[in-house]
Amino acid sequence: MPAAVRSRATPRPQIDKRPVHLRVVPQPHVPRPAPFLKWVGGKSKLLPALRPLMPNGKLRYAEPFLGGGAVFFDLSAEQRLEHALLCDVSRDLVGACRVVRDELPALLARLNVHEAHYLSENEENRALYFYAVRNRHPADFAMDDVERAARMLFLNRTCFNGLWRENRAGRFNAPHGRYPNPGIVQADKLHAASAALQGVDVRQADFRALPELVQDQRVAFVYLDPPYHPLSATSSFNAYSGGQFSGKAQAELADVCRRLDRLGVRFLMSNSDCGYVRDLYRGFEIGTIRAARSINCKGESRGDIDEVVVRNYAD
Ligand SMILES: C[S@@+](CC[C@H](N)C(=O)[O-])C[C@H]1O[C@@H](n2cnc3c(N)ncnc32)[C@H](O)[C@@H]1O
Repeated sequence: MPAAVRSRATPRPQIDKRPVHLRVVPQPHVPRPAPFLKWVGGKSKLLPALRPLMPNGKLRYAEPFLGGGAVFFDLSAEQRLEHALLCDVSRDLVGACRVVRDELPALLARLNVHEAHYLSENEENRALYFYAVRNRHPADFAMDDVERAARMLFLNRTCFNGLWRENRAGRFNAPHGRYPNPGIVQADKLHAASAALQGVDVRQADFRALPELVQDQRVAFVYLDPPYHPLSATSSFNAYSGGQFSGKAQAELADVCRRLDRLGVRFLMSNSDCGYVRDLYRGFEIGTIRAARSINCKGESRGDIDEVVVRNYAD
């Protein structure tokens, strides 16, 4: 058939001239990973001052005083981590991190139960529920890891000042907080934290075990944030995990840092700015950053205060 005839027979494509309405598919909001527990001495507000002090490039990283893990989550958000080892002496904290990493759906289900109970009650009954959960201590009641983690998160979100404080017997002892809407589940935040924790080694360990762990895992950079050395006999912020972090423990930590230095591992340590700490780290790079202290024993602001940062590297 000649081309002219064929083209006349072929129907021309119709152009749809109706206005096009693009359908916007809502994307799930994935927040930046950040601490999922409120923690005394948490470093979230100090991140802008700490970031420039960190080494550049991808890091084989360890953090032996994990707490809420503000620095870990920040490095993870910036995709700076090639490997991460996270340790803390607190069994509840380490257990909660592992559950967030490995058993998030089960944890969310338990938190939803806590939230439904708590929010449906009046203030008096909320307090009763809080103390019932607080008194159900894992040492006295059989409790799987998920229930234990849910208990910790629930208490952390509903207690006064939102923190984790234990007495000398290792029992959580903060009072009820009476917040109208304490945000018990926070699923988005937990999803983001869980994603950041995938593939991360989280262990219950004392800082004295650090040099061996660091060698085994070829860690090249360690950030250490021990309980502050108290600035005076009455200002003790370090009742995190039942025991106190004594001056002797600070000296042992300085020995650990010297060992890291001999192993060729870079370290950055933050602490309260006092003569005792400065003496322990003489010979290393010592600087200061400004920290806002917001929690004392009365929950009042104490204003800004210098915090010391010690490094065994310049840039
Ligand atoms: C200042 S907090 C860390 C805060 C953390 N950088 C953050 O941003 O939340 C200190 C942590 O050291 C832990 N800790 C206390 N004594 C320890 C020890 N002997 N070995 C390891 N961790 C210890 C506490 O349980 C606490 O979580």
